[in-house]
Amino acid sequence: MTANPHLTIVDHPLVQHKLTIMRDKGTSTKGFRQLLKEISLLLGYEILRDLPITTTTIDTPMEEMEAPTLAGKKLVLVSILRAGNGLLEGIHDLVPSARVGYVGLYRDEETLKPVQYYFKVPSDLGDRPVIVVDPMLATGNSTVAAVDLLKEAGAKDIRFLCLLAAPEGVARMAEAHPDVPIVTAALDRQLNDKGYILPGLGDAGDRMFGTK
Ligand code: URA
Repeated sequence: MTANPHLTIVDHPLVQHKLTIMRDKGTSTKGFRQLLKEISLLLGYEILRDLPITTTTIDTPMEEMEAPTLAGKKLVLVSILRAGNGLLEGIHDLVPSARVGYVGLYRDEETLKPVQYYFKVPSDLGDRPVIVVDPMLATGNSTVAAVDLLKEAGAKDIRFLCLLAAPEGVARMAEAHPDVPIVTAALDRQLNDKGYILPGLGDAGDRMFGTK
């Protein structure tokens, strides 16, 4: 794992292998979705590494013990619609008791600016760790907008999970939300003039849902 305080790149061989298959334009919709789910379990493991922990007294069949258990309130997973749902599926399997929120943003293809159409999150966000998920951190516009909305709704402990990041998006997040750590599988070269990541994997939503 490569880490700086703001960006963590998960360079585990399994993550990198799966990502290469996902990038390949010959990979089917079914294969892409399956791999995204698998990779989100591995990325989820990393982003949740420092969750607060406490102990509880239990009886094993042998004796009583003080055993580790997660502390505090259940965490919240927030998917940025629609592509976020692909990452959400895997990480929700990893933490089935997590609460789930949705932020609906679409990208205006002319301005590349996010337009909000939906926002639904648990009411007590301030007491819970919040993991925002979206596969592609490209311009960073929609991530910054989603985090703005979550902070307005009271969230204090926010982390962002993506599959691929562009340097432009990482810089934008570092400027707008330096308190939000980012975990990703790769930091790609750059954006093209339409705001797509190069070399990237194309449109993540289209690839996971078979739309075009
Ligand atoms: N969104 C995508 O789905 N792909 C990109 O490359 C950039 C934004």
